[in-house]
Amino acid sequence: MENVTFHDHKPQALSLYDAVVTGLSKSDKSIPPKFFYDQRGSELFDRICDQPEYYLPSVECRMLSDLADEIAKLTGKGRALIEPGAGSASKVRLLLDALRPSAFVPMDISFDYLKSSARALAMEYPWLPIHAACVDFTHSLPIPKEVPNGPRLLFFPGSSLGNFNPGEAGEFLRLVHDTVGEDGMMLIGVDTKKSEQVLHAAYNDAAGLTADFNLNLLQRMQQELNADIDPGVFEHLAFYNGEEGRIEMHLVSTQQQTLRLNGHRFEFEKGETLHTENSYKYSPTEFINMVTDNGFKEVRHWVDDEGLFAIYLVAVA
Ligand code: AVJ
Repeated sequence: MENVTFHDHKPQALSLYDAVVTGLSKSDKSIPPKFFYDQRGSELFDRICDQPEYYLPSVECRMLSDLADEIAKLTGKGRALIEPGAGSASKVRLLLDALRPSAFVPMDISFDYLKSSARALAMEYPWLPIHAACVDFTHSLPIPKEVPNGPRLLFFPGSSLGNFNPGEAGEFLRLVHDTVGEDGMMLIGVDTKKSEQVLHAAYNDAAGLTADFNLNLLQRMQQELNADIDPGVFEHLAFYNGEEGRIEMHLVSTQQQTLRLNGHRFEFEKGETLHTENSYKYSPTEFINMVTDNGFKEVRHWVDDEGLFAIYLVAVA
């Protein structure tokens, strides 16, 4: 394949071992959600996206295909397109023909998964130079040197921003600001605040895939770290925390137990939880205030008819 290059920015902050030891040593045990995404976790996430309760991707994809030409008019064609956390890169396909980017930079934390999805994309879009980079975007957004000069557009769909707490989200927005430069823009999909039942169902799908995705973290600890742990005594928990405006995911220990890892011992009380993810939801006003506080101005935003999901196009101020 002529049109794809690979870049390994082996993220230093990526050690599962360090994250587990640090996270389980705290009184409120937690592990950052980026550790969900090994190969199996990435595949489970793709299957979550096909569940009827998890409305986010279907609503966003419908919006993106309806809006592609309107977005292209506002951004112009020929920008370099950067997508942190691109995964299977399914959403960008809805935009490529309209945006005609000068290059596409998919970034993902799982290099194997990124390689196969970038290769598939390169076959489908032979005119598109692709520079795939293994990156931990919570740390940095390194742009491969092959990317042509010219205006940039950062594409951040799927409400991935929701994993950051509001302070971290602000830091990330400033990093994006510095990465896209003076005439840079960002197209970002963000989940809205809505009825608690709808949110609850989205993170407690009947097929149990969100539970498997959450529990996969324990499998990683067993398989990659040789942790002595019984995944059978943990349960998936997901609920909406209205005060914080976020879905929280936890793994609940259903009995008192000790997790052993390389000479460390971590005690779990019965009912104690390991906090694995936050997924913040933003009203359009909250979101626009946050981006304007961090160096951007709104170009336009769109909300679907049911108010389930929002897409924002913003430019460096
Ligand atoms: C990929 C972070 C946007 O928070 O909705 C899906 C991950 N977790 N189901 C989200 C997720 C449980 C997802 N993000």
